[in-house]
Amino acid sequence: MNAQPVDPRRPIAPADQPACLAALEAAVRARTGLRPSAGIVLGSGLGGLVDEVTEPVSIPFSELPGWPSATAPGHAGRLILGRLDGIPVALLQGRFHLYEGNDPGLVVQPVLLMGRLGAPVIVLSNAAGGLNPAFGPGTLMAIEDHLNLTGRTPLLGPNADELGPRFPDLTNAWSPRLRDLLQAAARAEGVELASGVYVGLLGPAYETPAEVRMLRSLGGDAVGMSTVLEAIAARWAGLELCGVSLITNAGAGYSGLPLSHEEVLAAGAAAGPRFVRIIRRLVAEIAGGD
Ligand code: HPA
Repeated sequence: MNAQPVDPRRPIAPADQPACLAALEAAVRARTGLRPSAGIVLGSGLGGLVDEVTEPVSIPFSELPGWPSATAPGHAGRLILGRLDGIPVALLQGRFHLYEGNDPGLVVQPVLLMGRLGAPVIVLSNAAGGLNPAFGPGTLMAIEDHLNLTGRTPLLGPNADELGPRFPDLTNAWSPRLRDLLQAAARAEGVELASGVYVGLLGPAYETPAEVRMLRSLGGDAVGMSTVLEAIAARWAGLELCGVSLITNAGAGYSGLPLSHEEVLAAGAAAGPRFVRIIRRLVAEIAGGD
């Protein structure tokens, strides 16, 4: 347990991250020496991958220094290290969102920690609303690029040059190599995998229909309340990145029906097994390609 009460709003600049990560790494290393081949963040309703992990070491967020326990409904809030078909992985079940009041520096710490533990590859997943009218509920979408419309960044303030550059490049932030591996994994599993641009907003209110029309006209295919800051931090830290959105609902206004978090979780449960199959294959490919 954390000895001090944790204030998740406390600003964490990039220059503060090395000390935070050293403490986090020590807390994890007190429990396991496992070096993950990939770090995987599981979005709302996509936590089922955890059940496939063997020899799991499961660490509740509240037992890691500086991490609060509270996460969104449908998010369990733990870091799991173990093996997926024999391959060492780190899984984040639940994540820190901006809409919970968390500082951007905290939002990205799990991804930075998984990199620090040895993961060269980060896989982000999320539940999202469909902006592309062709992407109905249940669609899985490989993220090919993003729009960060949160108005926030995890890189504000003094930089830590030993972790990453002041001005990181985000061209091909979503690795073309990993996107190819994702598509190949989906084909091998007979699962359809679309591809598109993820728009990240603050939330927690869902969008208005006018906002959905605007985001579509800006080039977005899916919209959600996570992922973009983690993507920026991963690239800053030199980690290779890919991601999958599960479209849980058509964007606000498309169907005329109200949106609900229950609908999001139900769609996650329905698509979970397809997501698990793709990610298992991807992990095997990543490890096999070493
Ligand atoms: N908008 C934003 N975030 C979401 C949605 C949505 O429609 N569905 C699931 N997460």
